[in-house]
Amino acid sequence: MKKPYVIIHTLTSLDGKINTIDLPQFHSAALQYEQLALHADQQVFNFQGYLNGRVTTDDNVTHYRKPDVNEMADKVPEGDFVAQANASMYYVSIDPTGRLGWKENHVDYANINSHVIAVLTEKASNAYKDLLRRLDISYIIAGKHELDNALVLHKLTALFGMDRVMIGGGGVLNWSYLQSGLVDEVSILMAPIADASPDTPSLFIAKEPLSKAQPRSFSLIEVKPLKDSTVWLRYKVNKE
Ligand SMILES: NC(=O)c1ccc[n+]([C@@H]2O[C@H](COP(=O)([O-])OP(=O)(O)OC[C@H]3O[C@@H](n4cnc5c(N)ncnc54)[C@H](OP(=O)(O)O)[C@@H]3O)[C@@H](O)[C@H]2O)c1
Repeated sequence: MKKPYVIIHTLTSLDGKINTIDLPQFHSAALQYEQLALHADQQVFNFQGYLNGRVTTDDNVTHYRKPDVNEMADKVPEGDFVAQANASMYYVSIDPTGRLGWKENHVDYANINSHVIAVLTEKASNAYKDLLRRLDISYIIAGKHELDNALVLHKLTALFGMDRVMIGGGGVLNWSYLQSGLVDEVSILMAPIADASPDTPSLFIAKEPLSKAQPRSFSLIEVKPLKDSTVWLRYKVNKE
């Protein structure tokens, strides 16, 4: 199977949290995070697509809308649907059962127009796939009941030509791919902030049955001070 180079790239607080904290230092770090990840002239990592968990997409893009499906839709053709094969950037949405209420086929995060690819399992309904086709949203099916993380990456390379992808989070998605042994590098922008909240998501979150808690280690590639006391850390994932 094909596998692109995979980098988890995340913005955290000093206490490893990935939620928004309304402080100027967070906003400065967030801008630097975007620039490193996606701005064409500073695209250090040269990603062709970035993966996002279902909760991250609902929080930031689809806002927990119900998908506007037609239960009477004709049966769609079997298999994957490639609506756009040559986009300059892809927003890859991990949504195994087809829950997200999309209204359009692109996301404009960081002023970059990214074509949406929905990643589904066979649990997603015909009506949901029909909605994606009507909106011209690409989709791939990877797994019967549970998502096959390696097959997702294979299809991103084979169908959309991606050889480098970023995993944008959140913590559940990050840890599930890391634990599957599919992540090459972890890139963290650490903002000089903390709130010690016990309930907010962190960089890595184990969630059964997708993943489980387990000790893992990393080796430093580079550490770089950035603007406004932000630090950029890059680690290789040690093979266990
Ligand atoms: N600071 C940052 O850089 C950053 C970046 C991204 C997100 N965030 C924040 O992180 C928060 C959300 O993080 P989160 O960890 O709670 O959720 P998440 O990772 O965004 O989404 C988790 C959900 O995605 C699906 N999913 C993820 N990995 C999967 C896999 N391997 N196989 C099958 N399904 C998978 C499942 O969806 P179902 O529940 O539908 O089965 C799972 O419950 C948001 O508040 C967001 O704003 C911060």
